[in-house]
Amino acid sequence: MSDIGPHLSYLTDQVISTGANKVIELGTRRGGSTGALLLGVAETSGHLWSVDIDSICGNQVIEFYGEMAKRYWTFVHGNSQDGPVIELLSVQMPVDLIFIDSSHVAEQTTQELEIYNHLVGPKGKMIFHDTDTRNDYWWVGVRQPIYNFLSHHREWRIERDVPFSEGLTTLVKT
Ligand SMILES: C[S@@+](CC[C@H](N)C(=O)[O-])C[C@H]1O[C@@H](n2cnc3c(N)ncnc32)[C@H](O)[C@@H]1O
Repeated sequence: MSDIGPHLSYLTDQVISTGANKVIELGTRRGGSTGALLLGVAETSGHLWSVDIDSICGNQVIEFYGEMAKRYWTFVHGNSQDGPVIELLSVQMPVDLIFIDSSHVAEQTTQELEIYNHLVGPKGKMIFHDTDTRNDYWWVGVRQPIYNFLSHHREWRIERDVPFSEGLTTLVKT
């Protein structure tokens, strides 16, 4: 289990407890967070779109999660900042929840925040992994961009912020 492990039940619970129908994930890798979000959308009869620049993630998740993935999941192969990916996901507006766990490079995090916050409907959420303030790399690449974003997007606020397992931060749109 990767460092996301202790956050997985929270991710599932967030989908179910908010009744989220449309969920987007940026950064799939071998599908750790994907599985947690999938369990949630299977319960709400919603759908999960997972983006990754690495094409292999699509087959891996289908192999691992089988029927549940075939029914409730779409893999979007591409760069989260590229036009075709954004266009495909924009069709789903308004989205209820976006989970962001991609490159952790400041410029990309900033772009993802600016692009994807517009897709989220009222009371929707964005959740970020790797936000632990004690880690310089996450500070520069993830937390600082979140703070910059919040300073000029007053409609968003931090709802939950925990430091364990590299940190997980939930923003809610008011
Ligand atoms: C930290 S891993 C994701 C881990 C996953 N959420 C989990 O729970 O196991 C980051 C992933 O983001 C992907 N990624 C990095 N930059 C990306 C980009 N610009 N667009 C889409 N995916 C990207 C990488 O290929 C990698 O699979």
